[in-house]
Amino acid sequence: MIEKIKAIIDDKIPLVSNLSNVSAILNEMEDINWCGFYLAKDETLYLGPFQGEVACTTIPFGKGVCGTAAQTKKTLIVDNVLEFKGHIACSSKSRSEIVTPIIKGDTVVGVIDIDSPSFSRFNKDDQDLLEEVARKLAILF
Ligand code: SME
Repeated sequence: MIEKIKAIIDDKIPLVSNLSNVSAILNEMEDINWCGFYLAKDETLYLGPFQGEVACTTIPFGKGVCGTAAQTKKTLIVDNVLEFKGHIACSSKSRSEIVTPIIKGDTVVGVIDIDSPSFSRFNKDDQDLLEEVARKLAILF
């Protein structure tokens, strides 16, 4: 998957085009019900390109899984979103979630968010993959 993503990223086309195609590749992951991006502006995350059901559009840094990952600048894996205090339930199907910040310099410019209908779906391998994807995407911002 990382090779496919590297091959499709093109720094000569608009960011939204790159993120849209990367979301389509991420959507090939098994056992997920949502994947995509939130883009940061003024300490707030706004919905970006994604695959899945309609999602919430605005998440302040520090709120929910996405906002917590953005604030701490660290990947966050939540094995059971029903037990995560402050989880923002965009889809009632989601049971576990991984969020990786995209960091340019020292600034969080967005996050990659993937949800699964299964508990404990995400592990260190997924984290390593998304962190590599985030590093590749950071150059586009
Ligand atoms: N559950 C996320 C919100 C985004 S949706 O999963 C697409 C959160 O708590 O930040």
